[in-house]
Amino acid sequence: MAAFRIVNYSTEHFEGVRALWREAFPDNPRWSPGEIAATARLPAWSDLFFIAQDADEVVGSIMAGFDGHQGWLYAMAVMRSHRRQRLGSALVKEAEARLGSMGCVKCGLQIGLANAGVVGFYASLGYAIEECISMEKDIAGSS
Ligand SMILES: CC(C)(COP(=O)(O)OP(=O)(O)OC[C@H]1O[C@@H](n2cnc3c(N)ncnc32)[C@H](O)[C@@H]1OP(=O)(O)O)[C@@H](O)C(=O)NCCC(=O)NCCS
Repeated sequence: MAAFRIVNYSTEHFEGVRALWREAFPDNPRWSPGEIAATARLPAWSDLFFIAQDADEVVGSIMAGFDGHQGWLYAMAVMRSHRRQRLGSALVKEAEARLGSMGCVKCGLQIGLANAGVVGFYASLGYAIEECISMEKDIAGSS
């Protein structure tokens, strides 16, 4: 397994996270620098947005959310250079532990259809496919 340490995200990690997300989510405009900054400003997220570092390099990230009952995982990413070394698994398990300590009983996540290959990653961690339709709306500026 690669040598890495898990630390909470802070602004000093901004450039590293941006580089990681550009590599891991090249086609996803939602992973914008603005989203990194906005999320990091929310105190409620301070323990639920964390990264993996190899020396000073940001090599992994995950965000979790908690609505009081169910937890959600977002922004699961590992640098290509560090994949298949259980780093992603370690980040998911850490997120589950942090959510569990908040009273969370169930954890979910979404995978884009174009990225369906990663089902195997989550399945290796005990996640099962749930039949549902996911919908969204950009409410900024809409009436
Ligand atoms: C998905 C991702 C986070 C996995 O990180 P990782 O550190 O390489 O994963 P791990 O080493 O912990 O993998 C553990 C197991 O999961 C499975 N797995 C990992 N990546 C997989 C993939 N791309 N496809 C299918 N199974 C995978 C394997 O069984 C693996 O065990 P093995 O290496 O002994 O075969 C990483 O590939 C990534 O960042 N991808 C791009 C971003 C992305 O798609 N994120 C998910 C958004 S929903």
